[in-house]
Amino acid sequence: MRNKILEILQNADTYISGEEISQKLGVSRAAVWKHIKKLKSDGYDIASVTNKGYKFMKSEDMFSGETIKEKLKTDFMATNICFLNMTDSTNEEAKRHSDMPDGTLFVSEIQTGGKGRLGRNWASERGVGVWMSLLLKPNLLPQEISQITLIAGIAVCKALGNNFMIKWPNDIVAETKKVCGILTEMSAEMERVNYVICGIGINVNNEKFDEELLSKATSMYLYTGKKQNRAKIAAAVMNEFEPLYKIFLKSGFEGVRDIYKEHCITLEREVQVIYKNKTVVGKAVDISADGGLEVETDQGRITVTSGEVSVRGVYGYI
Ligand code: BTN
Repeated sequence: MRNKILEILQNADTYISGEEISQKLGVSRAAVWKHIKKLKSDGYDIASVTNKGYKFMKSEDMFSGETIKEKLKTDFMATNICFLNMTDSTNEEAKRHSDMPDGTLFVSEIQTGGKGRLGRNWASERGVGVWMSLLLKPNLLPQEISQITLIAGIAVCKALGNNFMIKWPNDIVAETKKVCGILTEMSAEMERVNYVICGIGINVNNEKFDEELLSKATSMYLYTGKKQNRAKIAAAVMNEFEPLYKIFLKSGFEGVRDIYKEHCITLEREVQVIYKNKTVVGKAVDISADGGLEVETDQGRITVTSGEVSVRGVYGYI
Protein backbone atom coordinates (compact mmCIF):
# COMPACT_ATOMS: atom_id res chain seq x y z
CA MET A 1 0.00 0.00 0.00
CA ARG A 2 2.81 2.38 0.96
CA ASN A 3 4.52 1.85 -2.40
CA LYS A 4 1.24 2.45 -4.24
CA ILE A 5 0.73 5.76 -2.39
CA LEU A 6 4.31 6.72 -3.18
CA GLU A 7 3.75 5.93 -6.85
CA ILE A 8 0.59 8.11 -6.97
CA LEU A 9 2.41 10.99 -5.31
CA GLN A 10 5.43 10.67 -7.57
CA ASN A 11 3.28 10.62 -10.70
CA ALA A 12 1.15 13.62 -9.71
CA ASP A 13 2.32 16.98 -11.11
CA THR A 14 0.69 18.97 -8.34
CA TYR A 15 -0.97 18.55 -4.92
CA ILE A 16 -3.26 15.58 -4.60
CA SER A 17 -5.80 15.35 -1.80
CA GLY A 18 -5.98 12.57 0.78
CA GLU A 19 -9.56 12.01 -0.40
CA GLU A 20 -8.47 11.41 -4.00
CA ILE A 21 -5.76 8.96 -2.94
CA SER A 22 -8.15 7.11 -0.65
CA GLN A 23 -10.68 6.77 -3.49
CA LYS A 24 -8.07 5.58 -5.97
CA LEU A 25 -6.88 2.86 -3.60
CA GLY A 26 -10.16 2.05 -1.87
CA VAL A 27 -8.85 2.74 1.64
CA SER A 28 -9.79 5.28 4.31
CA ARG A 29 -8.30 8.77 4.46
CA ALA A 30 -6.95 7.91 7.92
CA ALA A 31 -5.05 4.98 6.42
CA VAL A 32 -3.63 7.22 3.69
CA TRP A 33 -2.54 9.74 6.34
CA LYS A 34 -0.87 6.99 8.37
CA HIS A 35 1.10 5.70 5.39
CA ILE A 36 2.18 9.19 4.39
CA LYS A 37 3.36 9.85 7.93
CA LYS A 38 5.47 6.69 7.75
CA LEU A 39 6.84 7.63 4.31
CA LYS A 40 7.91 10.99 5.72
CA SER A 41 9.62 9.35 8.67
CA ASP A 42 11.41 7.04 6.19
CA GLY A 43 12.94 10.17 4.68
CA TYR A 44 10.66 11.00 1.75
CA ASP A 45 10.16 14.72 1.20
CA ILE A 46 6.35 15.04 1.05
CA ALA A 47 4.75 18.45 1.54
CA SER A 48 1.25 18.57 3.12
CA VAL A 49 -0.85 21.72 2.84
CA THR A 50 -4.32 22.15 4.35
CA ASN A 51 -7.10 22.15 1.72
CA LYS A 52 -4.65 21.15 -1.01
CA GLY A 53 -3.32 17.76 0.05
CA TYR A 54 0.06 16.16 -0.49
CA LYS A 55 2.89 16.76 -2.93
CA PHE A 56 5.99 14.70 -3.51
CA MET A 57 8.89 17.13 -3.63
CA LYS A 58 10.88 16.10 -6.67
CA SER A 59 14.62 16.22 -6.30
CA GLU A 60 17.46 15.89 -8.81
CA ASP A 61 17.77 12.29 -7.72
CA MET A 62 14.31 10.90 -8.46
CA PHE A 63 14.78 7.18 -7.93
CA SER A 64 11.93 4.82 -8.68
CA GLY A 65 10.98 1.95 -10.97
CA GLU A 66 9.49 4.50 -13.37
CA THR A 67 12.52 6.79 -13.52
CA ILE A 68 14.77 3.80 -14.19
CA LYS A 69 12.43 2.38 -16.84
CA GLU A 70 12.17 5.61 -18.81
CA LYS A 71 15.95 5.54 -19.38
CA LEU A 72 16.18 1.90 -20.48
CA LYS A 73 17.18 0.88 -24.00
CA THR A 74 17.02 -2.87 -23.33
CA ASP A 75 14.95 -5.64 -24.93
CA PHE A 76 14.25 -7.55 -21.75
CA MET A 77 16.76 -6.60 -19.06
CA ALA A 78 14.97 -4.76 -16.21
CA THR A 79 11.80 -4.26 -18.24
CA ASN A 80 10.18 -5.74 -15.14
CA ILE A 81 11.25 -3.84 -12.00
CA CYS A 82 10.31 -4.43 -8.36
CA PHE A 83 11.20 -1.19 -6.62
CA LEU A 84 11.13 -1.35 -2.83
CA ASN A 85 11.17 1.28 -0.16
CA MET A 86 13.04 -1.07 2.15
CA THR A 87 14.19 -4.68 2.21
CA ASP A 88 16.71 -6.89 3.98
CA SER A 89 18.69 -7.59 0.82
CA THR A 90 17.70 -7.29 -2.83
CA ASN A 91 19.42 -10.66 -3.43
CA GLU A 92 17.14 -12.24 -0.81
CA GLU A 93 14.14 -10.42 -2.29
CA ALA A 94 14.98 -11.85 -5.72
CA LYS A 95 15.28 -15.35 -4.21
CA ARG A 96 11.85 -15.01 -2.63
CA HIS A 97 10.45 -14.05 -6.05
CA SER A 98 12.52 -16.35 -8.23
CA ASP A 99 9.38 -17.31 -10.19
CA MET A 100 9.41 -13.86 -11.79
CA PRO A 101 10.57 -13.48 -15.41
CA ASP A 102 14.16 -13.60 -16.65
CA GLY A 103 15.71 -10.12 -16.38
CA THR A 104 13.53 -8.89 -13.49
CA LEU A 105 15.36 -6.22 -11.49
CA PHE A 106 14.91 -5.77 -7.74
CA VAL A 107 15.92 -2.36 -6.41
CA SER A 108 15.66 -0.95 -2.91
CA GLU A 109 16.17 2.48 -1.34
CA ILE A 110 17.75 0.83 1.70
CA GLN A 111 18.91 -2.68 2.67
CA THR A 112 18.75 -3.58 6.33
CA GLY A 113 20.86 -6.72 5.80
CA GLY A 114 22.92 -5.98 2.70
CA LYS A 115 25.19 -8.94 1.91
CA GLY A 116 28.77 -8.79 0.68
CA ARG A 117 31.05 -11.55 -0.56
CA LEU A 118 32.52 -14.13 1.84
CA GLY A 119 29.73 -13.61 4.36
CA ARG A 120 30.53 -9.93 4.92
CA ASN A 121 27.97 -7.18 5.37
CA TRP A 122 27.36 -4.54 2.71
CA ALA A 123 26.55 -1.09 4.10
CA SER A 124 23.42 0.05 2.24
CA GLU A 125 22.22 3.36 3.65
CA ARG A 126 18.92 4.89 2.51
CA GLY A 127 18.79 7.16 -0.49
CA VAL A 128 22.46 7.23 -1.47
CA GLY A 129 23.24 4.06 -3.37
CA VAL A 130 22.07 1.80 -6.13
CA TRP A 131 21.30 -1.48 -4.37
CA MET A 132 19.92 -3.83 -7.00
CA SER A 133 19.73 -7.49 -8.02
CA LEU A 134 19.04 -9.00 -11.40
CA LEU A 135 17.19 -12.30 -11.64
CA LEU A 136 18.55 -14.28 -14.60
CA LYS A 137 17.60 -17.65 -16.05
CA PRO A 138 20.40 -18.59 -18.41
CA ASN A 139 20.79 -21.95 -20.08
CA LEU A 140 24.30 -22.50 -18.71
CA LEU A 141 26.20 -24.95 -16.57
CA PRO A 142 26.71 -24.11 -12.87
CA GLN A 143 30.48 -23.70 -13.38
CA GLU A 144 29.94 -20.95 -15.97
CA ILE A 145 27.89 -18.72 -13.69
CA SER A 146 30.73 -16.94 -11.91
CA GLN A 147 31.56 -15.34 -15.26
CA ILE A 148 28.29 -13.39 -15.11
CA THR A 149 29.89 -11.47 -12.24
CA LEU A 150 32.74 -10.46 -14.52
CA ILE A 151 30.30 -9.26 -17.15
CA ALA A 152 28.39 -7.24 -14.58
CA GLY A 153 31.73 -5.70 -13.62
CA ILE A 154 32.35 -4.56 -17.20
CA ALA A 155 28.80 -3.18 -17.41
CA VAL A 156 29.20 -1.16 -14.20
CA CYS A 157 32.57 0.13 -15.28
CA LYS A 158 31.29 1.27 -18.68
CA ALA A 159 28.22 2.84 -17.09
CA LEU A 160 30.18 4.81 -14.48
CA GLY A 161 32.74 6.20 -16.91
CA ASN A 162 36.46 6.71 -17.23
CA ASN A 163 37.32 7.29 -13.58
CA PHE A 164 36.40 3.74 -12.63
CA MET A 165 38.18 0.44 -13.24
CA ILE A 166 37.73 -3.25 -12.42
CA LYS A 167 39.96 -4.75 -9.78
CA TRP A 168 40.00 -8.42 -10.74
CA PRO A 169 37.68 -10.24 -10.43
CA ASN A 170 34.79 -7.92 -9.73
CA ASP A 171 35.36 -4.91 -7.53
CA ILE A 172 34.91 -1.55 -9.19
CA VAL A 173 37.40 0.93 -7.84
CA ALA A 174 38.30 4.59 -8.10
CA GLU A 175 42.07 4.46 -7.74
CA THR A 176 42.55 2.50 -4.53
CA LYS A 177 39.03 2.59 -3.11
CA LYS A 178 36.00 0.46 -3.83
CA VAL A 179 32.85 2.06 -5.28
CA CYS A 180 30.93 -1.04 -6.24
CA GLY A 181 30.73 -4.69 -5.24
CA ILE A 182 28.97 -7.55 -6.99
CA LEU A 183 27.58 -10.67 -5.35
CA THR A 184 26.30 -13.43 -7.62
CA GLU A 185 24.33 -16.31 -6.16
CA MET A 186 22.57 -19.21 -7.83
CA SER A 187 20.21 -22.07 -7.32
CA ALA A 188 21.36 -25.09 -9.29
CA GLU A 189 21.45 -28.83 -9.61
CA MET A 190 24.54 -30.76 -10.82
CA GLU A 191 23.94 -30.04 -14.51
CA ARG A 192 21.25 -27.40 -14.47
CA VAL A 193 20.92 -23.84 -13.27
CA ASN A 194 17.51 -22.90 -11.92
CA TYR A 195 18.23 -19.20 -11.56
CA VAL A 196 21.01 -16.73 -10.94
CA ILE A 197 20.91 -13.56 -8.89
CA CYS A 198 23.44 -10.93 -9.72
CA GLY A 199 23.49 -8.34 -6.92
CA ILE A 200 25.17 -5.01 -7.60
CA GLY A 201 25.85 -2.39 -4.94
CA ILE A 202 27.08 1.02 -6.10
CA ASN A 203 28.06 3.75 -3.65
CA VAL A 204 26.69 6.75 -5.51
CA ASN A 205 25.91 9.80 -3.37
CA ASN A 206 27.33 8.68 0.01
CA GLU A 207 28.82 11.69 1.78
CA LYS A 208 30.59 9.66 4.45
CA PHE A 209 31.54 6.14 5.51
CA ASP A 210 31.97 4.54 8.89
CA GLU A 211 35.47 4.55 10.35
CA GLU A 212 36.27 0.95 9.41
CA LEU A 213 35.31 1.51 5.74
CA LEU A 214 36.91 4.94 5.26
CA SER A 215 40.26 3.66 4.03
CA LYS A 216 38.80 1.18 1.52
CA ALA A 217 35.48 2.56 0.31
CA THR A 218 34.41 5.65 -1.59
CA SER A 219 31.40 6.87 -3.54
CA MET A 220 31.01 8.45 -6.95
CA TYR A 221 30.16 11.71 -5.18
CA LEU A 222 33.19 11.63 -2.88
CA TYR A 223 35.46 10.81 -5.79
CA THR A 224 34.10 13.21 -8.44
CA GLY A 225 32.60 15.93 -6.22
CA LYS A 226 29.32 15.65 -8.17
CA LYS A 227 25.99 14.27 -6.99
CA GLN A 228 24.60 11.75 -9.44
CA ASN A 229 21.15 10.66 -10.54
CA ARG A 230 20.76 7.06 -9.36
CA ALA A 231 18.05 6.12 -11.86
CA LYS A 232 20.37 7.15 -14.68
CA ILE A 233 23.13 4.98 -13.23
CA ALA A 234 20.92 1.92 -12.65
CA ALA A 235 19.54 2.19 -16.22
CA ALA A 236 23.01 2.75 -17.70
CA VAL A 237 24.26 -0.44 -16.01
CA MET A 238 21.33 -2.40 -17.47
CA ASN A 239 21.87 -0.84 -20.92
CA GLU A 240 25.52 -1.88 -20.83
CA PHE A 241 24.85 -5.30 -19.29
CA GLU A 242 22.33 -6.61 -21.81
CA PRO A 243 24.50 -6.57 -24.98
CA LEU A 244 27.48 -8.03 -23.08
CA TYR A 245 25.29 -10.76 -21.59
CA LYS A 246 23.95 -11.64 -25.05
CA ILE A 247 27.49 -11.98 -26.43
CA PHE A 248 28.42 -14.08 -23.39
CA LEU A 249 25.47 -16.44 -23.86
CA LYS A 250 26.45 -16.91 -27.52
CA SER A 251 30.25 -17.00 -27.37
CA GLY A 252 31.18 -17.49 -23.72
CA PHE A 253 33.50 -15.24 -21.71
CA GLU A 254 35.95 -15.33 -24.63
CA GLY A 255 33.55 -13.00 -26.49
CA VAL A 256 33.92 -10.21 -23.92
CA ARG A 257 37.42 -10.95 -22.68
CA ASP A 258 39.11 -8.09 -24.56
CA ILE A 259 36.57 -5.56 -23.26
CA TYR A 260 37.14 -6.88 -19.73
CA LYS A 261 40.91 -6.47 -20.16
CA GLU A 262 40.50 -2.84 -21.31
CA HIS A 263 38.78 -2.03 -18.02
CA CYS A 264 40.92 -4.13 -15.69
CA ILE A 265 43.28 -2.16 -13.46
CA THR A 266 44.96 -5.32 -12.15
CA LEU A 267 46.81 -6.14 -15.35
CA GLU A 268 50.48 -5.21 -15.63
CA ARG A 269 50.68 -4.68 -11.86
CA GLU A 270 52.41 -6.42 -9.03
CA VAL A 271 49.84 -8.56 -7.26
CA GLN A 272 49.64 -10.65 -4.16
CA VAL A 273 47.24 -13.54 -4.47
CA ILE A 274 46.04 -16.36 -2.31
CA TYR A 275 46.73 -19.42 -4.43
CA LYS A 276 46.25 -22.97 -3.12
CA ASN A 277 46.12 -21.56 0.41
CA LYS A 278 49.47 -19.76 0.01
CA THR A 279 50.26 -16.10 -0.51
CA VAL A 280 52.06 -15.70 -3.83
CA VAL A 281 53.52 -12.51 -5.31
CA GLY A 282 53.92 -11.86 -9.03
CA LYS A 283 52.89 -9.73 -11.98
CA ALA A 284 49.37 -9.99 -13.40
CA VAL A 285 49.89 -10.53 -17.11
CA ASP A 286 46.62 -11.70 -18.63
CA ILE A 287 43.00 -12.77 -18.20
CA SER A 288 42.38 -16.39 -19.21
CA ALA A 289 39.63 -17.52 -21.59
CA ASP A 290 37.37 -18.29 -18.63
CA GLY A 291 38.11 -15.12 -16.67
CA GLY A 292 40.98 -16.29 -14.44
CA LEU A 293 43.91 -14.03 -13.56
CA GLU A 294 47.22 -15.14 -15.04
CA VAL A 295 50.12 -14.25 -12.80
CA GLU A 296 53.81 -14.54 -13.68
CA THR A 297 55.65 -15.70 -10.55
CA ASP A 298 59.17 -16.91 -9.73
CA GLN A 299 57.82 -20.45 -10.05
CA GLY A 300 56.24 -19.82 -13.45
CA ARG A 301 52.81 -18.73 -14.62
CA ILE A 302 49.77 -19.55 -12.51
CA THR A 303 46.08 -18.97 -13.18
CA VAL A 304 44.06 -17.78 -10.22
CA THR A 305 40.36 -18.45 -10.57
CA SER A 306 39.01 -17.17 -7.30
CA GLY A 307 40.12 -16.00 -3.91
CA GLU A 308 41.61 -12.76 -2.72
CA VAL A 309 43.89 -10.58 -4.76
CA SER A 310 45.71 -7.44 -3.68
CA VAL A 311 47.14 -5.06 -6.23
CA ARG A 312 50.35 -3.25 -5.44
CA GLY A 313 50.13 0.42 -6.31
CA VAL A 314 51.53 3.66 -4.97
CA TYR A 315 49.92 3.00 -1.60
CA GLY A 316 51.25 -0.52 -1.19
CA TYR A 317 48.88 -3.45 -1.48
CA ILE A 318 45.16 -2.61 -1.61
C1 BTN B 1 31.06 -7.43 -2.25
O1 BTN B 1 31.31 -7.87 -1.14
O2 BTN B 1 31.90 -6.81 -2.90
C2 BTN B 1 29.70 -7.63 -2.86
C3 BTN B 1 28.71 -6.60 -2.46
C4 BTN B 1 27.35 -6.75 -3.12
C5 BTN B 1 26.34 -5.77 -2.62
C6 BTN B 1 25.05 -5.83 -3.39
S1 BTN B 1 23.96 -4.53 -2.96
C7 BTN B 1 22.68 -5.27 -3.84
C8 BTN B 1 22.76 -6.75 -3.58
N1 BTN B 1 22.06 -7.11 -2.35
C9 BTN B 1 22.88 -7.54 -1.41
O3 BTN B 1 22.52 -7.89 -0.27
N2 BTN B 1 24.15 -7.54 -1.86
C10 BTN B 1 24.23 -7.09 -3.23
